[in-house]
Amino acid sequence: MSTDTLFRRITDYANRPDPYPLYAELREHGVARQEDGAFLVGTYDEITALLHDPRVSSDVRNRDDAEELLAGEDPAAPRSFIALDDPEHDRLRRLAMRRFGPPHTPGRIDALRQDITAIAEDLARGLGEKQHIDIVDDFAFPLPVAVICRLLGVPGEDVPQVHEWADAVVAGLDFSPEEEPAERRRTALQARQAMGVYLGELARTRRERPTGDLLSQLANEDGPDGRLTDGELMSTATLLLIAGHETTVNLITNGVLTLGRHPEALQRLCDDPELMPRAVEELLRFEPPVQFLPQRTPLADIEVAGVTVPKGAPLILVLASGNRDPLRFPEPDRFRPDREDNQHLGFGSGVHSCFGAPLARLETQIALTVLLRRLGSWRLLADPPEYRRSPVLRGPRHLPVERGGGV
Ligand code: HEM
Repeated sequence: MSTDTLFRRITDYANRPDPYPLYAELREHGVARQEDGAFLVGTYDEITALLHDPRVSSDVRNRDDAEELLAGEDPAAPRSFIALDDPEHDRLRRLAMRRFGPPHTPGRIDALRQDITAIAEDLARGLGEKQHIDIVDDFAFPLPVAVICRLLGVPGEDVPQVHEWADAVVAGLDFSPEEEPAERRRTALQARQAMGVYLGELARTRRERPTGDLLSQLANEDGPDGRLTDGELMSTATLLLIAGHETTVNLITNGVLTLGRHPEALQRLCDDPELMPRAVEELLRFEPPVQFLPQRTPLADIEVAGVTVPKGAPLILVLASGNRDPLRFPEPDRFRPDREDNQHLGFGSGVHSCFGAPLARLETQIALTVLLRRLGSWRLLADPPEYRRSPVLRGPRHLPVERGGGV
């Protein structure tokens, strides 16, 4: 079969429960040119090399179709550093990193451990003796939202509004052909702007009266790289809020789903909780919440696996496919919670590799440990579950389970 509709098939909602056979098809070709001129890359070595290649840009303004893509956006509006190249990316990332965690302030994430455990225990207690639980609504969603909002200093009463905006921004990443992309992009843009204005106001309050949270620190500190401007502060805080909650929800939920499908692994984790950190790494490989990076652009013609990807063409790196590449991982389609040498692409790689990885790992390890302790085990009540729309940030919308069955 021709591969020029592969991306359309990958993004087709009907394939959300199991896109992996399509990724295997992609790897057979290494690089697949799509009908619209985009290039898909699905093999581990090629993806890794491109993520480390300074000729590959994260700034869509370098794309040939940038004008159309960015219609309605203010070109002067500050962009978040995930969508910028060095040196601007490096300066903004370092400014945010200084206050965020390892390697500069390991104490911050460590101090969070207790907070996260308390929030997770609270949510688990809230489940009471309920037999049937929706892991997403009852547990996996409220946890990361509470954590990232607490970290930034977003007041509890504003959390539902923040979530609504984040959802709209993420919906903007949806590539489903059956929906109107321009309309979705407009809604996403409005939500991003509203969130930026809200965070800008909050930051101004924190400038006047700092409260010790991340936003207060980002707003007030001067370092060797200077201070964030108001615009940069808004875009950085928006990025942290969105990146910090829509992804971790999916990792926790994919964890409960995968363990529900592998009762022997669930039992092993009950018997040996020390295995949890490795099991979470394996989840990031096996069911990564970020399936592909849709917005890279070559700044020059680049040769990839014998194919020339021209300057300015859309380049899509399918991380979830690289994670199943048999040339890199033995038995790639098997979930092995004790897998060794697991340099997966779940957090990307290179200069843009995930900034929040230590936090996401910690949250997921704690979340699954608390669930195992509270529920003992669980049985899936819907398999496959109903998925969220997005093919990029892929995960179940609901995950009904019954406690105590299965193992
Ligand atoms: C970047 C995945 C959680 C903040 C990335 C990238 C991936 C990723 C794949 C690379 C993007 C690229 O190369 O274009 C994940 C997953 C998470 C998670 C799977 C949860 C399981 C978090 C959390 C935060 C966060 C909790 C913050 C609180 C960021 C930021 C970037 C990023 C700021 C941009 C880094 C840069 O451009 O230098 N993440 N992430 N992420 N992530 Fe995460």
